[in-house]
Amino acid sequence: MRVVKIFNLNNVISIKDFQKKDINFILDEAENLERVARSEERSDELAGKVLGMMFFEPSTRTRLSFETAIKRLGGNSVGFAGSNISSVSKGENIADTSKMFEAYSDALVIRHDLEGVARFIADIVDVPVINAGDGAGQHPTQTLLDLYTMKREFDKINGLNVALIGDLKYGRTVHSLAYALGMFGVEMSFVSPNELRMSNEVRHDLKKNKFKFHETNNLRDIIDDVDVLYVTRIQKERFPDEEEYSKIKGAYFIDLDLINGKDLIVMHPLPRVDEISHDVDNTKYNKYFKQAFYGVPIRMAILKNII
Ligand code: NCD
Repeated sequence: MRVVKIFNLNNVISIKDFQKKDINFILDEAENLERVARSEERSDELAGKVLGMMFFEPSTRTRLSFETAIKRLGGNSVGFAGSNISSVSKGENIADTSKMFEAYSDALVIRHDLEGVARFIADIVDVPVINAGDGAGQHPTQTLLDLYTMKREFDKINGLNVALIGDLKYGRTVHSLAYALGMFGVEMSFVSPNELRMSNEVRHDLKKNKFKFHETNNLRDIIDDVDVLYVTRIQKERFPDEEEYSKIKGAYFIDLDLINGKDLIVMHPLPRVDEISHDVDNTKYNKYFKQAFYGVPIRMAILKNII
């Protein structure tokens, strides 16, 4: 019998490489894997497989949820977090380091501050490569878990009204997410200070695909009409100068006074710095911690289908 492979991607580099059917497939797979992700069922589907983790930039959720995902499927991981503890600090170039990961593991997850690095690595190694964030570029697995959160909360994605708020210029999560939301026919509002408007490249892509979006710098313009407030951190580390950052930090603040009585949910890729008041944490509006958990079933679904 010929096995028809539904998920055809060899690497996960950009959400733009996905078709809608690929995204839907991963979301369905994640739902089937949720019990394993919660440790209510056991799986050894990836027993004996090793995931290589090359993390040149800080990470908590992405790295830990990838490690949890491979382990819950019976596999294991090797790697480093921070270039100071690998031979990169001795001057080894990233191509040589990647070749070593190719020799020791069955797939490779990379996070780096340079845009395009994951694509570069994917071209020189023969194992699947997953982009866990490349500078201000893309963060496709985050987008999949963001979509999954919306689907689990509303039972649909199509037709939702979503506001992306904060640093839309440097934030890679919103660069990936805006494109995917466009594919699903979501009404998008981009809320940011003028200095941190959605990047030209993303706006160009959205327009080219006839994905609709509306831009404003005033949260109150959209607050009554949205189903999802997707809040982001100002990406301090990507600002060319600290003074520019200090002018903009704290631009938007979500607290209970702002959202009380409204029919919406609050999401955030995390880490949160000062964008969401802690008084939102113990309310029905808070979906950001649940969203972080969904990183596990989503990454399990990806690993299962790519390794
Ligand atoms: C994000 C990232 O690294 O881009 N974090 C994450 O992966 N959940 C968001 C951020 O750092 O602000």
